[in-house]
Amino acid sequence: MTDDVLQPEAAGDDLAFEGALRPASLAEFVGQQKVRGQLELLLNAATLQNRAPDHILLAGPPGLGKTTLAMIVAHEGNRPLRMTSGPAIQHAGDLAAVLSSLVPGEVLFIDEIHRMARSAEEMLYLAMEDFRVDIMVGKGAGATSIPLELAPFTLVGATTRAGLLPNPLRDRFGFTAHLEFYETDELHRVLERAAALIGLAIGSDALTEIAGRSRGTPRIANRLLRRVRDYALVHGGAADHSAVRAALELYDVDEHGLDRLDRAVLSAIVERFGGGPVGLSTLAVTVGEEAETIEAVVEPFLVRTGLVTRSPRGRIATARAWTHLGLSPQAGPQPGLIDDL
Ligand SMILES: Nc1ncnc2c1ncn2[C@@H]1O[C@H](COP(=O)(O)OP(=O)(O)OP(=O)(O)O)[C@@H](O)[C@H]1O
Ligand SMILES: [Mg+2]
Repeated sequence: MTDDVLQPEAAGDDLAFEGALRPASLAEFVGQQKVRGQLELLLNAATLQNRAPDHILLAGPPGLGKTTLAMIVAHEGNRPLRMTSGPAIQHAGDLAAVLSSLVPGEVLFIDEIHRMARSAEEMLYLAMEDFRVDIMVGKGAGATSIPLELAPFTLVGATTRAGLLPNPLRDRFGFTAHLEFYETDELHRVLERAAALIGLAIGSDALTEIAGRSRGTPRIANRLLRRVRDYALVHGGAADHSAVRAALELYDVDEHGLDRLDRAVLSAIVERFGGGPVGLSTLAVTVGEEAETIEAVVEPFLVRTGLVTRSPRGRIATARAWTHLGLSPQAGPQPGLIDDL
């Protein structure tokens, strides 16, 4: 249960809760100012020209608002939305079925697009470019391909691993939005909005404390807010600063928002590998987590907070990381010494 609170991925009763808190328009969408401006221009231009907006790729760690933005793209243009995901597209035929049933102007959202089958990817190239697919009929020498015209649509792809997308696919998006972790004041606004929506009376200092510990991630901020509400409810007190501290301590979120896995990775680099460099797969095995999770979820946050840097030879802990763990950086990168710590 503790883990659910800390995971940036959606879990358990998040889904219903998230639905209720999801901003429905760009104006309500907090932060990501640059991406918001870029999207606004792209959508407005399409409206003025009375055509479907260009295909959009949304890249970034979990919980930063990719699904939310895809829904906004549809909502802002008053377009129908079809949602599917990479893992659901195991064959080119699965994709052909979806594409051929789209209505003109529809927004097709493919979540985790990097996990789509290769054969479907190739079909998608043509569909994105020419709004056409070639359906193969028959096998071997007698096989023929029948072209099928598609209604013009807008593809919105989301991925936590933009690096895994083949170049031809990446190049066919008219716009790629790289979502960044949120600043504390932006998360404060996300929380203010969420508190109002769930009818929770909570002070600004309490919200700042939650915002600072939310790993730069709106999904985590909203989830911690819920835990604070629970805490206040169960203890019959106000959702104030001390309730926040007590609730977050209970759930093992430290003052910089590092969660259990972040800390495990950090101390593995520092204590087991003398500060690094250490390769991704070695690190993953050491902390008992999937390499993909470390790369897509943990590492971006540790890099962004300046605790870890990447080098061609692997991940390296910075001086800040040593200090964060209460160690002296000078004892530094000499593996022999570190073993004795
Ligand atoms: N900019 C924002 N302003 C307000 N709330 C936000 C914002 N971004 C995200 N949220 C909140 O965080 C929740 C999670 O966002 P969302 O589901 O869009 O993330 P995601 O990037 O699709 O994550 P995943 O990669 O796990 O699918 C939303 O339900 C919404 O409540
Ligand atoms: Mg999503």
